[in-house]
Amino acid sequence: MRQAGRSLPEYREVRSRVDFSTLYRTPDLAAKVTLQPVDRLGVDAAILFSDILVPAETLGLEVAFRPGPVLDDPVRTDADIARLRTREPEETVPFVFETLRILRRELAGRTPIIGFAGAPATLAAYLVQGQGSKNFERFKGLLVSDPDAAHRLLDKITTVTEKYLAAQIRAGAQAIQLFDSWAGLLDRKEYREFGLRYVTRVLESLRPHGVPLIYFALNATHLLPDVAKCGADVIGVDWRLDLVEASRLLERPFVLQGNLDPCVLLAPPEVIERRAAEILDLGRRLPGHIFNLGHGVLPQTPVENLEVLVGAVKRL
Ligand code: CP3
Repeated sequence: MRQAGRSLPEYREVRSRVDFSTLYRTPDLAAKVTLQPVDRLGVDAAILFSDILVPAETLGLEVAFRPGPVLDDPVRTDADIARLRTREPEETVPFVFETLRILRRELAGRTPIIGFAGAPATLAAYLVQGQGSKNFERFKGLLVSDPDAAHRLLDKITTVTEKYLAAQIRAGAQAIQLFDSWAGLLDRKEYREFGLRYVTRVLESLRPHGVPLIYFALNATHLLPDVAKCGADVIGVDWRLDLVEASRLLERPFVLQGNLDPCVLLAPPEVIERRAAEILDLGRRLPGHIFNLGHGVLPQTPVENLEVLVGAVKRL
């Protein structure tokens, strides 16, 4: 979980020459920045350089990054939803799959490559709101006032997401992570109706491909008993809850991924090492544990601190 390379000088160097959307649309460059943290830090997996908003293009929408995603024409009315198309990702965003094919060649014998997408409700939140927001009130307004329209929207997003991720696997992704960054906007009842239902559909559709499926919901402590039903192999846990407590709330054994608070990476090395050790100790009490951050790397994180963390985790 990085978002990104933003903290690496070599990423900033590339970004000083091209904007973010040119970067993810240009397979050679996208592959290059995907490899930067693997080369620099020696982490055990690479994650495709792209963004959760990229498949919005497959629906026929235009997204700009300023610096977060912005839609100048957000999805607001029944007509907007009816206009959305569910085209083939290979035709609409071919650069994603070309990037993955390059990465499989470049990474052969080194690390696996993780593909990803946003979970349907998280993507819907951006498409309706038009940009990031504290409360996503336009999106929540739609769920409350016109649940049928919300379902029509989520159904189309889910169809595109299924195709998009299947195409990523065909192009070489060896694991898939679904990011539900805004699951925490929903109460338990809303999550079951508008969140979980569509996450389950996406993950079930991918099951036959035989790659590990990871689901990460941010700010979702209150949702964990339902999250356990999503059909993933691995549950990502944010930094708000310790891993053993999260495991208890999930009510059944899962491999967990997580969950160092990204802010700890701003602290001195001995603090980073101690906090990493605490998480690894908790992880040993689980059926399986993938060490990770509990959300994205903060842009101001010193690279040396990322090196300290990876070194400590490997040593321990
Ligand atoms: O980190 C990586 O390089 C992996 C690829 C990746 C990006 N975004 C690149 C990116 C991944 C996995 C994402 C996922 C993503 N994108 C999520 C889910 C994870 C999470 O954070 O909860 C979300 C919500 C988004 C939407 C998004 N994209 C936001 C809110 C922003 C602005 C972030 C900020 O604080 O600047 C982006 C832009 C973005 N996506 C950047 C990167 C590297 C920064 C672009 C830049 O200025 O260079």
